[in-house]
Amino acid sequence: MKKNIVTLVDHNSGKTYEYPVLEGTRGPSVIDIRNLFKDTGMFTYDPGYTSTASCESKITFIDGAKGELRYRGIPIEELATKHSYLDTCYLLLNGTLPDHVEHKAFDLELRHRAFLHEGLHNLFKAFPDNAHPMATLSAAVTALASFYHEHLEMENEAEFKEMAHRLIAKMPTLAAFAYRHSLGIPFIQPDIDLSFTKNFLTMMRAYPGGKMHLSMLGHEEIKEIEVRALDTIFTLHADHEQNASTTVVRGVASTGAHPYVAISSGIAALWGRAHGGANESVIAQLEMIGSVENVDAFIERAKDPDDNFRLMGFGHRVYKNFDPRARILKELQDELRIELGLDSELMAIARKIEETALSDEYFISRNLYPNIDFYTGIILTALKIPKSMFTPIFVIGRTVGWLSQWIEFKQDPTSKIARPRQLYTGE
Ligand code: SDX
Repeated sequence: MKKNIVTLVDHNSGKTYEYPVLEGTRGPSVIDIRNLFKDTGMFTYDPGYTSTASCESKITFIDGAKGELRYRGIPIEELATKHSYLDTCYLLLNGTLPDHVEHKAFDLELRHRAFLHEGLHNLFKAFPDNAHPMATLSAAVTALASFYHEHLEMENEAEFKEMAHRLIAKMPTLAAFAYRHSLGIPFIQPDIDLSFTKNFLTMMRAYPGGKMHLSMLGHEEIKEIEVRALDTIFTLHADHEQNASTTVVRGVASTGAHPYVAISSGIAALWGRAHGGANESVIAQLEMIGSVENVDAFIERAKDPDDNFRLMGFGHRVYKNFDPRARILKELQDELRIELGLDSELMAIARKIEETALSDEYFISRNLYPNIDFYTGIILTALKIPKSMFTPIFVIGRTVGWLSQWIEFKQDPTSKIARPRQLYTGE
């Protein structure tokens, strides 16, 4: 029996074809079918790419059956509890966690790069107040490409890293500016004396002059537990293998377009409620359900094949077990409930949905568990962050993952322009 070979038999022509099996260091092997069309004149057919590996990668590993997630081989549980988001950014970009000196240099560089070119401030003013921050954010990142045209001509890793550090540093500022524009209040500039995450919360909440005061908006001094909770959320969102938005980023990278428009395309893809937009939809759905008594009726709707209502924050293409990120967030939510007195009607509805769905045959048989978005929305609500900013927060966390995957694509000598084929059934 030939090892690491699969044989394809075409019973119409009686021909057989052999294809090598490539083994990774973890997870499923792949059948290398790059010569299939040349050999057989046929394509594979895999809408949504449920059985397709689009690339080789060393960045993130997911085991959907076990509910396991690793960045550069390190379990997400270790990174989320023992390391900062900045450590995780450094790890994803460089393959190792930073030592003390590397951490300080990286932190300092991001603090200095958090500022935006004054010309960008005017861009926000072109948007209507009620513009969704995701639309503004995607447009602002595309506009950033016009301020850093030199990133179209990068040749080496050092230039890739500078381009990446620049965008990672600026994304919180862009997101905070988009939010403050939607309220019609003045922008707060980054403060280089603040950490990455505390700086973002301050740009979101502070009054002109960077002051926090108890007021009808509920702005008050930022608590350390809030900074830690948001930093953990950024870490949990940092990367996630070849998900829909990362696939879009790699696709735009494959045409040779500016890296920032590849990231802007990723932001656009993430916005969808089937993907990163689910966290905002979870809260909207809890508000729509309105009370614990209404939960059972909505669970029945989610199970009804003739009703396109779906339970936001449930199910996942890869995880057929609890999303490990959701498990970490569930613990964080319990901690916050005590510290921040987080016990609202929304929480009670969410708990009822969780208990009911996790014991219902429909969800169990389809391996539908709460995913990262189910808990993120509840925690961000506790941090007084408006739901329109939930997916922009997902963007801030995921920017480093998109950029790490972009750089890996550029450094892969086998990379080609993304150009799948089709099954034509037209005239
Ligand atoms: C993210 O890919 C990633 O890694 C993404 C992400 C990341 O970090 O990048 O993890 C972030 O996007 C998390 C997912 C957030 N989305 C949601 O919470 C939206 C609700 N979930 C669904 O839309 C759905 O579960 C998906 C999109 C997440 C996954 O869809 P799949 O893998 O294509 O699964 P499917 O649509 O084929 O569903 C399989 C069955 C179907 O029923 P049957 O046809 O077999 O009878 O499960 C049902 C679906 O109807 N189903 C649901 C459901 N999700 C799937 N039924 C009710 N409610 C749901 N949420």
